[in-house]
Amino acid sequence: MEKITISLIKADIGSLVGHGRVHPDIIKTAEELLQKAKDEHLIIDFFVTNCGDDLELIMTHQKFIENPEIHKLAFDTFMKCAEVAKSLKLYGAGQDLLKTAFSGNIKGMGPGVCEMAFEERKSEPIVCFMADKTEPGAWNMALYKIFADPFNTPGLVIDPSMHSGFSFEVHDLFEHKKIRFSAPSEIYDLLVFIGAPARYCIKSVFRNSDNEIAAVSSTDRLSLIAGHYVGKDDPALIVRSQSGFPAIGEILEPFAFPYLVAGGMRGSHNVPLMPVSLKDAHPTRFDAPARVVALGFQLNNGKLQGPVDLFDDPAFDLARQKCNEIMDYIRKHGTFEPHRLPLDEMEYTTLPEVRKKLEKRFESLG
Ligand code: F6R
Ligand code: MG
Ligand code: MG
Repeated sequence: MEKITISLIKADIGSLVGHGRVHPDIIKTAEELLQKAKDEHLIIDFFVTNCGDDLELIMTHQKFIENPEIHKLAFDTFMKCAEVAKSLKLYGAGQDLLKTAFSGNIKGMGPGVCEMAFEERKSEPIVCFMADKTEPGAWNMALYKIFADPFNTPGLVIDPSMHSGFSFEVHDLFEHKKIRFSAPSEIYDLLVFIGAPARYCIKSVFRNSDNEIAAVSSTDRLSLIAGHYVGKDDPALIVRSQSGFPAIGEILEPFAFPYLVAGGMRGSHNVPLMPVSLKDAHPTRFDAPARVVALGFQLNNGKLQGPVDLFDDPAFDLARQKCNEIMDYIRKHGTFEPHRLPLDEMEYTTLPEVRKKLEKRFESLG
């Protein structure tokens, strides 16, 4: 069988109420368009969902990554959904569609893209993560723990097929460059970069023993594409699991610790990342805490069996409770760092205008 490609393409094309959640009519519209593409055998299968205000299209096909037909399908779907959003006067209708003339690849046009192709194994479990109110670098800590930290993933130590470790492709979002690090031998070098998630993002992970793809994330930075603030580029991530890849439980484990990520109110605050089931994937308080959902699928010749809503588990209740405690604590900082992001990382700021207005009142300290 030819390689199966899974494409997770997402965009915020308008939501209800404010930056809250995707309207049911939008989900329905996307489902209808993807069903048509499935009937016409362009795609094998699909699942449409949302995390907060982001519409998420999960598609399987045999056309490999960056395929113009698949990207056009996603783009046309977003355009049609944006029309519906405009007709309903939803908030931010069409927000992420920064360019409206499609020319072969949806990358760089606004939506987030996360795709991988592989020969489907005898049994192929995958996890699709989707987050809202944060940024692509939010996956860095989780990916490091899943694929390089034996305290999280005992399989790195005790499963012979994972024992030679994994390699990380890291993207410099500012200089538009990439570099690859092999773990465990280069973890100190790797951590120098991925500890700065606003700039360096883990794009993909490969198994060292055979270079097989293990994980891929979306790393488009909307603000850099648009040149001004247009909302956080809420990220997606696909991870392959079991039999030589981390187990489902090893993949979910990092999210039991609700680490801080950039996002939340006005894309300008550090907030905890809350693992939630789909029913709770709509941030309200302080446009936060940032949410992450994890949908598990079992592939069957490209058919998406599932999803299993993996964070719909009381085992994550403590993480959620801790998130609420962290929110109470960190909110008390008001507009002070480190709750508010450093000036150069804030997605929108009045500083330049205020500075200009008060320029004459600044006196030299001598
Ligand atoms: C965060 C986010 C929201 C908005 C906020 C203000 O990523 O999307 O916190 O930044 O609701 O939105 P506007 O500027 O559209 O009124
Ligand atoms: Mg939004
Ligand atoms: Mg969003």
